[in-house]
Amino acid sequence: MKRVYVTRRLPDPGLPLLIEKYNVVVRTADGPIGKEELLENVGEVDGLLCLLTDTVDAEVIAAGKKLACISNYAVGFNNIDVAAATKRGIPVTNTPGVLTDTTADLAFALLMCAARRVAESDRFTRAGKFIGWDPMLHLGYDIHGKTLGIIGFGKIGRAIAKRASGFDMNVLYFDAFRDSTQDEAALGASFAPIESIFKQADFITLHVPLMEETRHLVGRDELRMMKETAVLVNTSRGPVVDERALAASLRDGVIAAAGLDVYEDEPAVNPLLAELDNVVLAAHIGSASRHTRSLMAKLAAENLIAALSGKRPQYIVNPEVLK
Ligand code: DGY
Repeated sequence: MKRVYVTRRLPDPGLPLLIEKYNVVVRTADGPIGKEELLENVGEVDGLLCLLTDTVDAEVIAAGKKLACISNYAVGFNNIDVAAATKRGIPVTNTPGVLTDTTADLAFALLMCAARRVAESDRFTRAGKFIGWDPMLHLGYDIHGKTLGIIGFGKIGRAIAKRASGFDMNVLYFDAFRDSTQDEAALGASFAPIESIFKQADFITLHVPLMEETRHLVGRDELRMMKETAVLVNTSRGPVVDERALAASLRDGVIAAAGLDVYEDEPAVNPLLAELDNVVLAAHIGSASRHTRSLMAKLAAENLIAALSGKRPQYIVNPEVLK
């Protein structure tokens, strides 16, 4: 019987699907698995089902002597050295699609929460500071009718555009690959150069994968291009934003507010950010609905089963290994 190692408990039906077919070891500890533990457990297994918090680097991949699939329980796969896996002919799979709308919902929630100071107002109320309606209390920014800049117009970026139409927003987008003018019309979104998005948008939301080209895509210079009233939302990967520059910009009023779900040095949150009221800090919960996390677990298990059965997984990030 083939052996599979799963680095964390998953929602059903992920594990039952695997247990039916394989000898499965599931790590039951909480928190991300360390490198040593991963190295110890990957040695004799055919399949690895891992999380975005697990660093599956070339050393781990080399230690997996029998490894025939690395199934990531996430759409992003920057935690895996895909080149090293490809070199060894190991398929790497991920879970796109099923989390698109849930992640777009959260991005929009952060946008609204930051613009309308919801979290700040909650803290204020809980602290017993609410002494009555006040014409000047917690004034924020309107969302309806404003310009939304979407950077990265893949599935999630497009799902954000749909939501924005309900708020009568003017939607601009930038993507390194502008591939579908049809979608632009249907979604009411217009392509704009990235610099003009930084300059014109009232809200900017990031939906790019983390790669060398997107690391610190938003840094000091970009923040300075933005309006003083702008709100930045990041639900992609933390290192896409230079967090120190963002904290300074929020503190100094270079931009108005931010909504973050991801962090440069996750799970650590830069203390400079944590002390500010004009940033909403979520705990990487973009895909965290019960339904979506189950769909992700099912897809991650199915991807692994397909690869271990010699079939093409539904979502493979290095299809060249199948040739
Ligand atoms: C992903 O899938 O990459 C998200 O960050 C978590 O669901």
